[in-house]
Amino acid sequence: MTTASGWRNLPPLAGLCSYEDAFREGMSVDRCVAWMKRHHYLLVRLHQIFTARITAEPVYELKTAFSLHSYLCAEHATAFRQRVGELREPPLGLEVVPHAGLERLCDEVLCAPSHVELTLGIYECIVPALVDSLKQYVATTNLLADAPSVRVTRFCLLEMEDIAAFGRRAVTCLVDENSRERLVSWRQLLQNCIADADGVSGRDDQVKSETRHSLDEDLTGPAEPLPSKMQPNFSKRPFEYDPVPQRDERFQDSFNAGVNPEAFLYDTQFADRDKTLMMFYKRLREIDVPEMMASILFQTHGKPWKYYRDMSRQLWDEARHAMLGEVGFVSLGLDWSRIPINFTWSRNLNTQLKPWERHAVLFFIEQGLMPRTGKRFEWEVGLASGIPLAGLFQDFDWADEVLHAQIGREWYVKEFGDLNEAMSYGDRCWSQVLSHWRSYLDEGLTEHRNWWPELYQAACQKWGVTPDPIALAFNTTYESTRADLKEIH
Ligand SMILES: [Fe+2]
Ligand SMILES: [Fe+2]
Repeated sequence: MTTASGWRNLPPLAGLCSYEDAFREGMSVDRCVAWMKRHHYLLVRLHQIFTARITAEPVYELKTAFSLHSYLCAEHATAFRQRVGELREPPLGLEVVPHAGLERLCDEVLCAPSHVELTLGIYECIVPALVDSLKQYVATTNLLADAPSVRVTRFCLLEMEDIAAFGRRAVTCLVDENSRERLVSWRQLLQNCIADADGVSGRDDQVKSETRHSLDEDLTGPAEPLPSKMQPNFSKRPFEYDPVPQRDERFQDSFNAGVNPEAFLYDTQFADRDKTLMMFYKRLREIDVPEMMASILFQTHGKPWKYYRDMSRQLWDEARHAMLGEVGFVSLGLDWSRIPINFTWSRNLNTQLKPWERHAVLFFIEQGLMPRTGKRFEWEVGLASGIPLAGLFQDFDWADEVLHAQIGREWYVKEFGDLNEAMSYGDRCWSQVLSHWRSYLDEGLTEHRNWWPELYQAACQKWGVTPDPIALAFNTTYESTRADLKEIH
């Protein structure tokens, strides 16, 4: 028996790794910290890039994927922040740019003019480079001594590989050979930026790394200006956030506010089964919440990191709620693109209110819809509807909403100290946002067509039932009533 194996051959070292791995020289704490800060930096920048591009990205699948990917990056950035803080690191220096090449790389992708360049830059350049570096980290560091970092890195790798897999498919669908050729020199620029930083790891050129990139330099960035092969292209002009939501061609008549689903939902004379259609519509319409929250996140500066993490979680939940609505319609065999999915809420809030006022409206709506006409009610309707997915979706929607109320109390109400004051400010801000119902009609932007009878009839046909004549005749618009059923004056 030797001490180089476990008792009765049990796996040694808590099953973490072999003795050989544990003999690995690995890296010092300082080197691990410097490397993880680069991962952290890319995650923070990816989070920023994804968030910045949600609102004005027309393609729904990209909007929802960016919502997820920004949230995942926020979570992993949080984990790396915490890990760096465990490694004798105050002051943490987490806001310092680790290398100007990485900064240029991210700026270029942030400023990409369309989703062709954007998806290439994110999914074919930054994310794969990050994935490689995460793998390299696990292959380099001492698996026993640095086990907590390895854990954080492996979790990150798991989801970054999911993002990369989505990205490969997205790029195949969106980028043709002509675009690739047109972008040869730009793609080279991105690679040059990474090469100048000695890879995401900072260790691609070990010798160079040992002599040139001392730790101090890693914290402060290189002294020399960036070489000419990294001259900015798209980032010559600073990025300008576009707050006006865009939708792809499946979303038609987006100014249409010709049907008030809340008025139907809370009317006791209608059947629960019929109400699920309005609930699926309300869920799908929630794609306007990520469009709006992205603007708050992008335009609010100087908050603690946890604010951005929490708000990104909520943003992702709202994108997920939209997809629940989408799935609801698909499950019933109904074509949701025939229903106008209104975008005037995100459009008006983003263009008429300040970020803080938008947050107030968001909190007011989420909190205000709670009691009488709340999420529990929607769940009960779903359960009673005979459509199992409706009950299930509302169950989770309700749970998410409770979390959002907590996030609101943490980052919004605390500024007021008093819930009532916080609520009435939100109400005032919402009242300020003109719905322009009449002027959209006058300007010919919409006819506020009543789309309900067509949807309802199609659903009844799928269900093999005769439409309820009173439900079929439903014709209440948003002209004089808000979503919380308050009169508009
Ligand atoms: Fe929601
Ligand atoms: Fe919510």
